[in-house]
Amino acid sequence: MKYNFDEIIDRRGTHSTKWEIDTAHQPLVPNAISMWIADMDFAVAPPITEALRDAVERRIYGYSDNEFAEYKQAVSGFYHRRHGWQMNLEQMVYACGIVPALSQIVAHATAPGDGVIIQPPVYPPFSRVTSDNGRRIVENPLIYENGEYRMDFEDLARKAADPKNTLMILCSPHNPVGRVWTPEELREVYRICHENGVLLVSDEIHCDLLREGETHTPMLSLFPDAQDLVACVAPTKTFNIAGLGCSFVFVPNPELRQKITDGIGELIVNPLTTEAVIAAYSRCDDWLDALRAYLDENYRFFRESLCKRLPKATMPRMAGTYLAWPDISAYTTDTMALEKLLAERGLSVEAGVRFGAQGEGFLRINLACPRSYIAKAVEILADALTE
Ligand SMILES: Cc1ncc(COP(=O)(O)O)c(C=O)c1O
Repeated sequence: MKYNFDEIIDRRGTHSTKWEIDTAHQPLVPNAISMWIADMDFAVAPPITEALRDAVERRIYGYSDNEFAEYKQAVSGFYHRRHGWQMNLEQMVYACGIVPALSQIVAHATAPGDGVIIQPPVYPPFSRVTSDNGRRIVENPLIYENGEYRMDFEDLARKAADPKNTLMILCSPHNPVGRVWTPEELREVYRICHENGVLLVSDEIHCDLLREGETHTPMLSLFPDAQDLVACVAPTKTFNIAGLGCSFVFVPNPELRQKITDGIGELIVNPLTTEAVIAAYSRCDDWLDALRAYLDENYRFFRESLCKRLPKATMPRMAGTYLAWPDISAYTTDTMALEKLLAERGLSVEAGVRFGAQGEGFLRINLACPRSYIAKAVEILADALTE
């Protein structure tokens, strides 16, 4: 194996959020394994380390720029190569993170009191950026049937038709349920939003982390110039560089783009991030392919071990992300209590209810780790649920 994803890299004592605290912000118990926040416990691809090492060894970290052709070509080349999306770089706004960018989009594209449509169970900051900006959360819950999640288009059409609901945040692929939306589903979401004057914001941060044979459709590849569409991507999940802070927001509408750019304000461009991003997007495809193969095996291993120890547990087919979303409602429906118990026993995962009331009975478990962690996690989980 060219890359050793089984390698254990001890992250404790490195100020890693995942490895210092649990979801309740309590320090991890000694020897705990942490599988909550969405970063990976794998070493980054060697070209990223080399690029960072070269930059560090220059020993000067002054003001820096990322408006140059090599950088932009690295970004657009990657999405064209991997997703067939010909980006329009004029639409691109740089931001240090998708969550702060979403907050700016909500602030500048909606008015106080407006409704923002989200599809729970979903990544909690979608609600946070809404309520922190004094906007209302409008839920269009996903439907879970026969082990599969799908969108409720009738409910979405009703909610979009309310003129007070002016923006929708779509998670594509979906965290935590792992759905990779089909082009037909994406066209339908956009159609409903467009016909009702709802600005659609598509968060595509998980788009590179799909199971073998799955394909992500970038929203802007379907509707390249849609004036009521915004799409967000980032190299941070894909290449495990979340702490370096980098994301790209694509805004076809020039006035909205200006407002979002102004809202994001003056940024200090981190020169280390720039080097890492160029390396990631231009020299790490084979690492990413190897990572995906390892993650596929992690899912298979997790599902099999879980079924063996907890035969009544199930899990939807998870086509994207590196997160598992097992349904353990046959054992308990109080996942907050379970989350606490697991943390005390040395396993840090997230109660499904943190992603919305619809997540009760589920857990979110981050599988982007050496397989040996998964084996230990299933033991701790199964013991807690069966004794
Ligand atoms: C759907 C989604 N969007 C955004 C983020 C975080 O983005 P950033 O770190 O760029 O703010 C995450 C992280 O888990 C996520 O799952």
